[in-house]
Amino acid sequence: MAVLVTGATGFIGQHLMAALISDQYPVHVLTRDIYKVQSLWTNDLIKIFQIDPIDQTQAIELWKDVEIVFHLACGSFAENDVENYQKSIVVATQSLLTQAIKAKVKQFIFVSSVKAMGEKTEECLNEYSPAFPETAYGKAKLTAEQLVLSAGKDCTICGSVLRLPMVYGKSTKSSILQMTRAIYRGYFPSLSKINNHRSMVHVVDVVQAMVLIAKNPKASCQQIYLVTDGQSYSTDQIYTLICHALDRTTPRWRIPIGVLIFGAKIGDFMQRIFKIRIPLNSKTLDKLTSSAWYSIEKIQTELGYRPQYSLTTALPEIINQVKRLN
Ligand SMILES: NC(=O)c1ccc[n+]([C@@H]2O[C@H](COP(=O)([O-])OP(=O)(O)OC[C@H]3O[C@@H](n4cnc5c(N)ncnc54)[C@H](OP(=O)(O)O)[C@@H]3O)[C@@H](O)[C@H]2O)c1
Repeated sequence: MAVLVTGATGFIGQHLMAALISDQYPVHVLTRDIYKVQSLWTNDLIKIFQIDPIDQTQAIELWKDVEIVFHLACGSFAENDVENYQKSIVVATQSLLTQAIKAKVKQFIFVSSVKAMGEKTEECLNEYSPAFPETAYGKAKLTAEQLVLSAGKDCTICGSVLRLPMVYGKSTKSSILQMTRAIYRGYFPSLSKINNHRSMVHVVDVVQAMVLIAKNPKASCQQIYLVTDGQSYSTDQIYTLICHALDRTTPRWRIPIGVLIFGAKIGDFMQRIFKIRIPLNSKTLDKLTSSAWYSIEKIQTELGYRPQYSLTTALPEIINQVKRLN
């Protein structure tokens, strides 16, 4: 049996590959960048196929012996770039699904995002909460999820969806790393205490959830699962945890929210005039002060998922990485 992975060269994909390689799975990697794959892994169990996921051509060798697809590939574009998100998420997923069904693949595991449900939540949401995506990315993820789940309806293939919040771990692109770096360098503002709730998950636990879905095809068929580290963090808690992990005391003074709102408005104005990105703008402030949190009861009870990491346990490795980068 072989496993097909798209997006293997990305942040989560590299961790998934490590788990698959250590379990001795033959892996077919579908990539747009053959050299990156070759630089990451030299293993006889890995076969590399340089194909764009939106390519409709059926490469027979790609699908030979494949029983499970982990579909992680996803482009990153400007927030309102509907066309590219449609192509890289919806068209690519449909193309892979069509080929997977033809090749009689058993399971199709699609890595989605909580942004398919929306950007903010008033309360803790679960898989049955209504979805109101706001961005081009979130809307495309929701459409692709529906393709995956409906492909499983006639039992030709088992489609499962994993919805992720922000993922932390050792990666230069994680927002937690950026925030830790800003605090380390002393330019992250000490925001006033806001009692918001945000979910996050460690990349190792994302892989744990993906493997659990793959190992439980009957239970996970046509199911959506949310996966987090089981905690909810306020921005103030995240800030305090990072300061403590850096051995810094948190400042006694806090910037009042009114001042931040005013600063964000100035940021918006400067962005419009100078066409450059200002770190403090209404959007970033909204992200720092709003809530987006999710329950993991379903994946815990149905698949036995148990998060191994929390931000506290993950921060030492993130801080080591920050120190190396500076
Ligand atoms: N990281 C997070 O915090 C987070 C949160 C929620 C959901 N997710 C989802 O999890 C999945 C993996 O995320 P990640 O953080 O590992 O992503 P990543 O580091 O950006 O990697 C994504 C991979 O997708 C492929 N790719 C990039 N641009 C593409 C394009 N235009 N068309 C097709 N393929 C493209 C690339 O692989 P090749 O060059 O090898 O083709 C790339 O390595 C994505 O579907 C993402 O939406 C991530």
